[in-house]
Amino acid sequence: LKILLASSEVVGFAKTGGLADVAGALPRALAARGHQVAVVMPYYRCVRTSKLPVERSEHVIPVPVGTRTLACRVFRSMLPGTSVPIYFIDQPEYFDRDDPKVGRGLYQQSMPGGYKADYIDNAERFVFFSRAVLEIAHVTRFIPDVVHANDWQTGLVPVFLNEIFRAKPQYEHTRSVFTIHNIAYQGMFGREVMKLTALPGWLFNHNQLEFHGHFNFLKAGLTFADAINTVSPTYSREIQTAEYGCGLEGLLRQNRMKLFGIMNGVDYDAWNPATDPYLPKHYDVDTVFEVKPDLKAELQHKYNLPLEPKKPLLGVVARLVSQKGIDLILSAAPGFLDLGCQMVFLGEGDPEYHNELQQFRDKHPQQVGVNIGYSESLAHLIEAGSDLFLMPSRYEPSGLNQLYSMKYGTPPVVRQTGGLADSVVGATHETLQAGMATGFSFGDYTANALYQTIKWAVTLYRDRPKDFQQVVRTAMRQDWSWDRSAADYERLYERVL
Ligand code: ADP
Ligand code: GLC
Repeated sequence: LKILLASSEVVGFAKTGGLADVAGALPRALAARGHQVAVVMPYYRCVRTSKLPVERSEHVIPVPVGTRTLACRVFRSMLPGTSVPIYFIDQPEYFDRDDPKVGRGLYQQSMPGGYKADYIDNAERFVFFSRAVLEIAHVTRFIPDVVHANDWQTGLVPVFLNEIFRAKPQYEHTRSVFTIHNIAYQGMFGREVMKLTALPGWLFNHNQLEFHGHFNFLKAGLTFADAINTVSPTYSREIQTAEYGCGLEGLLRQNRMKLFGIMNGVDYDAWNPATDPYLPKHYDVDTVFEVKPDLKAELQHKYNLPLEPKKPLLGVVARLVSQKGIDLILSAAPGFLDLGCQMVFLGEGDPEYHNELQQFRDKHPQQVGVNIGYSESLAHLIEAGSDLFLMPSRYEPSGLNQLYSMKYGTPPVVRQTGGLADSVVGATHETLQAGMATGFSFGDYTANALYQTIKWAVTLYRDRPKDFQQVVRTAMRQDWSWDRSAADYERLYERVL
């Protein structure tokens, strides 16, 4: 098959979260299965200035946005280590900007007082991008069987395909798949966005592009795509309920015949403790207990914590937003310290959490380390050097960090929701006896449930090391490689064709 994957971020070029990891790894896995794949993303300033090898096409493609026509240039590179082309959509007015303080400024800028705000022209930027994804075929000559759009930023791709491009002979047979990575980010704007799209006004109705008087990119994508999926089976069911559907549950229930759940995979070339270039020492399931103490010491050192080999070290790497259960961690954390734990945090997000975490650290400098920011290398070291990885999410469409932490022999402590429920087997007397436990899990979204779970994990760590080591080994042996998920995507693409 010929597949064009459109994403607003791709790992190695621009990343704010797991979407980038998926957009980098799925195409590679599909290519390995023999498909012809290409990727398309915006030509952000961080790509422009990255010194990665790119070629510029001489063609200039006119792309209409509202009453204007903007020039789009196409740059081309390869996904590292593959023969998968990646095309960059260049329009400096929209993408040649950045704000290193805010996820490299892909979607937001920082404001006075540590706050941040979405760019005011985000709707326009991604109307342009979504349209350009289909316009560039003139230059790339890559006419896909399936165009695979991801999240609200590319929600209009299926709409443009149906309403504008389907009439063109080259797109007559192209079908679309739309993946929801996170339903809480819908791309909601005023109705004036209709004008920017230049789509017929009658599409603005509550069965198509309108959501309670607003223009909704995500709703557009899921109504117009030939098939939709989310990134785990459990989340695909959860979003059909009012608790998780963010207002779109009714529409998703109506569309459940075309709604699927496909768990994300892991790119084990990038996330493998046996080869990880970010780690000073390597290990696998046979050497984990010899090597991990050194990496733990290295991590304690990086965070200026006392080198305490025996204290359980809890790691957190996350976007610091309410989704990730940071409030639970903060309310339960004094209890963790009483249990004798140390904690390290890496993340950025809401300034309230930045402040609260820093205050917590200042109160307990011997036990708590906080790094507000974005760092690939530190993220890898936390996965490797911690004893437990915390991910008590309020909701979690798929989650990648729990998969990484299992591979790194750092049992994840998760709330049973979305992809966390689908991937982690919590340690209980039964699962331990059956040799199946890969982490620790709880159900209720309460600080007490989290605390009790950590207490149980610490009990195993201290008093039942054989059991704890079994959890570590079982976790490390799990295989979440992309190949399986790529096969599921393949079936989904075949279905829409
Ligand atoms: P989400 O996409 O909701 O943020 P995932 O678990 O799917 O959650 O993916 C998060 C990805 O982003 C992981 O690769 C994680 O290591 C990375 N990440 C998140 N925050 C940071 C950070 N501050 N520094 C480095 N990597 C980060
Ligand atoms: C979103 C979700 C996360 C998922 C990622 C990639 O950011 O929050 O759970 O792993 O997308 O699909």
